Amino acid sequence: MPDKFEDPEEENRKYWESVVETHFASNFYEVDAWINGGMKARPWEADVIGRLDNKDAVHLQCHFGKDTLSLLSLGAASVTGIDYSESAIQKARELAVITELSDRSAFELCAVKDVPNLMTPKRFDFAYVSLGAICWIPAISTWAKAIDYLLKDTATLFVHEVHPLAQILNRGNGGWSLDGEYFESEVAMIDESDGSYTENSENLRGYRTHIWNHSIGEVVTSLSNFGFSISRLDEHSWTSFQQFPEMIKTGTERYVLPSDWLQLPLSFTILASRG
Ligand SMILES: C[S@@+](CC[C@H](N)C(=O)[O-])C[C@H]1O[C@@H](n2cnc3c(N)ncnc32)[C@H](O)[C@@H]1O
Repeated sequence: MPDKFEDPEEENRKYWESVVETHFASNFYEVDAWINGGMKARPWEADVIGRLDNKDAVHLQCHFGKDTLSLLSLGAASVTGIDYSESAIQKARELAVITELSDRSAFELCAVKDVPNLMTPKRFDFAYVSLGAICWIPAISTWAKAIDYLLKDTATLFVHEVHPLAQILNRGNGGWSLDGEYFESEVAMIDESDGSYTENSENLRGYRTHIWNHSIGEVVTSLSNFGFSISRLDEHSWTSFQQFPEMIKTGTERYVLPSDWLQLPLSFTILASRG
């Protein structure tokens, strides 16, 4: 159990260490179905990203590597996942062995803030970041700096993230309310609820996590500060997890609000490139 007075990022890391086995075994992640289906990238992501032939790809905050390995289905020459959780990296390496994809994949233990100290600079052509990643980084500039460091001068970045408005949305009897700062703040939002976003996680109790919101403008500007141009910025009225119990599943990893509710942005996608 974490010490309630330790560094917020260290408390978060301990939480992430604790969830890996639960997530790996969950219906939410559908690891067996993904393996049986040929370890493919999500079709809608494949449409936005396109082919990655001959490209070396990096996945920041890769968790147990399912999305990292999926990038190989787009033709990537190699994929590298980075995460600060030892159990996540260990599981990702196991998954690479199970799927016989070890020869084209690598998983490195590294916190986003340590990327410029621990990783090789300008090694990758493509970076991938997906849902539930940037909220764990206190300053979005640290994240953008890591991406700048990892990517070559000619490179592409794909991000699919929880929308910063959705991050602070609450639904009560009176309808929508906002609970937290839309803009980046040094003061984290604290979550002491039990469980996680997978259906089998009731056993995860007693953790406290800290998240930091980053507005759409802050995310985009952090990337343009490192020479990236945005070719797509899409705000979606759907997201990949059941953020509110009333949400309706409309497809694989796709949940929408009831049609008689005010529709709000729940996730967003960025495709950016430089060079
Ligand atoms: C929601 S998960 C990854 C999202 C991915 N969409 C998935 O479902 O596989 C978040 C991951 O970020 C990692 N993480 C959080 N903060 C980090 C940091 N500062 N540096 C590196 N990894 C971090 C956690 O260990 C966890 O594996």
